[in-house]
Amino acid sequence: MSLPAGTLNESWEERIDAEDSILWTCRDPKVRRVLRLISRRPILVKQKAAGIPKEYRAARLSTWDESKSNPYTSSIVRAYVQQPSHSLFLTGPVGTGKTWAMCCIGNELLGRGRVVKFIGVTDLLMRIRHSFASESGSELQVLEPFFDAEFLLLDELGDVCLDRDRKASDFAASRLLLLLDKRFQTGKPTLLTSNQDLQGFTEWVGDERVSSRIRGTCGAEGIIELEGRDLRFDAVPQESGVE
Ligand SMILES: Nc1ncnc2c1ncn2[C@@H]1O[C@H](COP(=O)(O)OP(=O)(O)O)[C@@H](O)[C@H]1O
Ligand SMILES: [Mg+2]
Repeated sequence: MSLPAGTLNESWEERIDAEDSILWTCRDPKVRRVLRLISRRPILVKQKAAGIPKEYRAARLSTWDESKSNPYTSSIVRAYVQQPSHSLFLTGPVGTGKTWAMCCIGNELLGRGRVVKFIGVTDLLMRIRHSFASESGSELQVLEPFFDAEFLLLDELGDVCLDRDRKASDFAASRLLLLLDKRFQTGKPTLLTSNQDLQGFTEWVGDERVSSRIRGTCGAEGIIELEGRDLRFDAVPQESGVE
């Protein structure tokens, strides 16, 4: 297959390899450098495209620290990477490793050539709101990549709060419902994290249908409760005991 006439920029050249396939190479040294970088660090390029936050790009099975986890979570993550067929709801207090576990799965799936998308719920809702005021993009354009992704990682479900009375707004609940419904209908797995358990989340969101979708899509075995200390404190040096 060759490029249509007129599209071949003169800095690109066409070569034929030993098996008669066309290879495209570029004479521009800057472009060659970028291409080299991409081919050396393909996972980083995929992580950026997937929206995996910088601080979670190192989360892999090879870097999984058993002392920061419990055998149950560890086994769930390893099993899921082998058979990523269903949805997961990871719940537990702040700092117990929910986002790390979810991104570990996401990074491993990216490494295996699967299509993953990560987004924080607050960020997603902000982007949708922004689209209302923007002439260049629509709500559907914001949501479509998240409808379509093979695996969606939806972070911090229980944190979103766009109402004055500190309840989830109808807007938040309706968009979550739409997103979960779309993914449920197409059978695409969604991984979710929340600081609230499903019961607390139901009360907070004020819409039984959202948690019912989560329960339906994850099943009992897909609802994982993490517990333990706030691991973020592990990185902070202890102060010397001044009374
Ligand atoms: N299994 C793990 N292996 C290595 N580091 C971990 C692991 N789980 C958590 N951490 C560390 O703990 C920090 C807090 O975890 P995080 O997933 O952000 O918590 P949560 O999402 O539950 O608030 C992470 O930034 C990471 O440095
Ligand atoms: Mg988190």
